[in-house]
Amino acid sequence: MQNRKCVFQTDIGNAPDTEPERQQYFISRCREWIQERTGELGRPLTCYISTFGCQMNAHDSEKLMGILLAAGFEEGNSEESDFVLYNTCTVRENANQRVYGRLGYLHSLKKKNPHMMIALCGCMMQEPEVVEKLKKSYRFVDIIFGTHNVYKLAELLFDRICSRKMVIDIWDENRRIVEDLPSERKYSFKSGVNIMFGCNNFCSYCIVPYVRGRERSRTPDDIIREIEGLVRSGVVEVMLLGQNVNSYGKNLDPPVSFAELLRRVEKIEGLSRIRFMTSHPKDLSDELISVMAESKKVCRHLHLPLQSGSSRILERMNRRYTKEQYLQLVERIRHAVPDISLTTDIIVGFPGETDEDFEETLDVVKKVRYDSAFTFIYSKRTGTPAAAMENQVPEEIVRKRFDTLLNTVQEIASQNCGRDVHTVQEVLVEERDVQEDGWMTGRLSNNTIVHFPGSEELVGKLVNVYLDEARGFYYMGTLVK
Ligand code: 5AD
Ligand code: SF4
Repeated sequence: MQNRKCVFQTDIGNAPDTEPERQQYFISRCREWIQERTGELGRPLTCYISTFGCQMNAHDSEKLMGILLAAGFEEGNSEESDFVLYNTCTVRENANQRVYGRLGYLHSLKKKNPHMMIALCGCMMQEPEVVEKLKKSYRFVDIIFGTHNVYKLAELLFDRICSRKMVIDIWDENRRIVEDLPSERKYSFKSGVNIMFGCNNFCSYCIVPYVRGRERSRTPDDIIREIEGLVRSGVVEVMLLGQNVNSYGKNLDPPVSFAELLRRVEKIEGLSRIRFMTSHPKDLSDELISVMAESKKVCRHLHLPLQSGSSRILERMNRRYTKEQYLQLVERIRHAVPDISLTTDIIVGFPGETDEDFEETLDVVKKVRYDSAFTFIYSKRTGTPAAAMENQVPEEIVRKRFDTLLNTVQEIASQNCGRDVHTVQEVLVEERDVQEDGWMTGRLSNNTIVHFPGSEELVGKLVNVYLDEARGFYYMGTLVK
């Protein structure tokens, strides 16, 4: 048990040692403090989270917002709030630069609002050089934490309130998984679910294994229990999240394959759709392909990062597959699940990439015909093996290749989008159409967006929609009664 003195109450009692009780305790302590400030100021204290990067961060931000709201903050709609949190990404260098840039702006806001607190978390905080720089040159930041202790936000906030000093808490690995804390889902009917953390692949350009630590899978029982709870609260679609879901469960005792996990999730009554992200091609099993083919719930969409179409570059990237193996895998998937939509990630300008290598990438893009692709310019990440490689590609060449790739990808994607026009498809209705009053927006199983006239009671429901027209990346449709 830990006894602490605090400025706003001399005797704060004893915080429990067990979780989640400990965090619930700190949530209620923070709530007392926030209520006091609210009374003094005569207005609610507001909070705002800005999320950078991937789905994992987006999911963490829902948990962080859940904690802040439970602690008594109201959600604000801009950085002009009393508690501003940046959940950062560090996959590419420019994401880091953006955070430093925006911190200058936050500092100017803090000078105007003495009640403001600034917190930073996420992958960028797992880099020791970043924390050093913040400690030295950004003293106005109040709380810094990483990717492994998101659940501790209330405790860290409490520490900050009591100590009035910058609070820094970074762990280098995932020590524990704390369940049953509040979460504020962006959508009531769909949710991310972490199935594993970390990555063991060490692709030579990628910083993720250094900042997210080694792979660690949650047990199937814990995952199923969480999803059952979500379904009870109205969720019909889950996105199973992991850096490399295809190696799920390898280190569990006894081991469980990702395909086996999907079979178990499929049996959950009331759940309609299952998505997952991200798959590494080298670990995608035939067992998984057959589960996808047989399943009624697993969506017709697979995100299968290619990174490069050149076997020579793939080897330097430490991806552990060749161009031919990737294409064969795509063929096996398409044979088993003909209506599948494939999307990918591609990096251009990896060190040593020649025009011929780039042509190989374009060749794969044309052969696979992706429904969409995230295209990235290679970013040198200090500490990764690729950062020390010779033959970094000159910027103007990379730019040219990037533009060519983007045009090719977009042209194919818009041709693909017409595939289902004039058919009736099942759509999960997500929200009001932001452009058109009286219209709704939803998604097909293959993840394509559909807009159609409809009313708000449809949100979260699966409806049949006739797809009247394809417009590049989305459809316009009509509800079928
Ligand atoms: N430079 C550019 N893109 C990168 N990615 C990962 N590391 C880098 C890097 N150093 C891309 C990969 C990955 C996606 C999430 O980000 O394509 O799949
Ligand atoms: Fe990075 Fe490769 Fe792991 Fe993906 S699989 S997170 S690209 S190291």
